[in-house]
Amino acid sequence: MTAKALHRSHIPLRETDMRSDRVQSLNDPQSPQRSSSEQATGLRVNDLTVTFGRGRKAFNVIESLSFEVTAGETLGLVGESGSGKSMTAAALMGLLPWGGRSSGSVQLGDTEITRLSNAALRAARGREIGMIFQNPLSSLNPSLTVAQQIAEPYRLYCGATAPAARSHARQLLQEVGVPDAERRLDDYPHQFSGGMRQRVMIAMALACSPRLLIADEPTTALDVINQAQILRLIQRLQKEHGMAVIFITHDLSLVAEYAQKVMVLYAGKTVEQGPAEDFFCSPRHPYSQALLHAIPRLVNMEERLSDIDGLPPRPQEFPVGCRFAPRCPAMTPECLTAYPAQQGGAHHFYCIHPVGAVS
Ligand SMILES: Nc1ncnc2c1ncn2[C@@H]1O[C@H](COP(=O)(O)OP(=O)(O)OP(=O)(O)O)[C@@H](O)[C@H]1O
Ligand SMILES: [Mg+2]
Repeated sequence: MTAKALHRSHIPLRETDMRSDRVQSLNDPQSPQRSSSEQATGLRVNDLTVTFGRGRKAFNVIESLSFEVTAGETLGLVGESGSGKSMTAAALMGLLPWGGRSSGSVQLGDTEITRLSNAALRAARGREIGMIFQNPLSSLNPSLTVAQQIAEPYRLYCGATAPAARSHARQLLQEVGVPDAERRLDDYPHQFSGGMRQRVMIAMALACSPRLLIADEPTTALDVINQAQILRLIQRLQKEHGMAVIFITHDLSLVAEYAQKVMVLYAGKTVEQGPAEDFFCSPRHPYSQALLHAIPRLVNMEERLSDIDGLPPRPQEFPVGCRFAPRCPAMTPECLTAYPAQQGGAHHFYCIHPVGAVS
């Protein structure tokens, strides 16, 4: 995501905006209210597309994505750099960079997010959808203490008094493993180490017990010990709060450990999707297979890692056929004529020469 997008992404957490949100959301008939039936359901996304530019210069950066994440479930969203993972998160949050527009349906519980007014959408972001951004330092507001950044959404969107919100912020910091939470409440983001900032981001994202948590590369900047601690923490909180989680990562080994479902993006399109077990036991798309072969296997040091030669196309140059074809060992001329149709059901893929097919 661009610096501008990241800047915009934390605008709703700024104090001034939140005050106006509160006034608007309380009066807004579209402001999402949670019913008990909604709490039991997760996220349903249908045909989500994000477009930049106009007329002949228009291009899609993600195209026709459809997926579901039920309450308590984790979807691992994987793909190379630039495949559209963060753009998908931005579209779900209604926080696209300037010039971007989305189409398709994003349903959280019974609420169609794409039809909400701006004020109701900001309230939904404060209350229903938590986001751990790819870069915590640029997503936390440097001029506000962590108490202000965690307690304010809780006070504004969950109706708590200021002392109750502060006490909630302290409990959350304790819960995410920030030592000496009472004292650290009044510190600013730059006073925290990278690992602790990640924890503060998680506390912020969880302040209102959101129904959906989007974790965009939540641990890339961390050492392996911190990484495991943070991911286990998210997993534990997910169980306790019954959240649907979208876990965005380059790292398929983390997906194998933490996700029940996998969606692989390549150049803005889904190439394969399904239950994690099916995916890892029998990947069907050659791109998925190449990604899996690139995972280091400590148990077999003899096995060589395979690189995927070449680069993905730029969004302005997406071809009509399979976008992976130029890099694919199984490519034939047919691959270049049209985007492959979906094959399979719960575990599905888009390829006319799938891995494991009898020829
Ligand atoms: N403001 C923008 N305007 C137009 N295109 C953009 C903009 N921001 C990003 N893109 C393009 O959208 C595509 C998807 O980007 P995105 O940030 O979602 O990738 P990603 O999968 O999250 O990559 P990474 O793993 O590096 O974080 C890329 O081709 C990128 O160049
Ligand atoms: Mg990204």
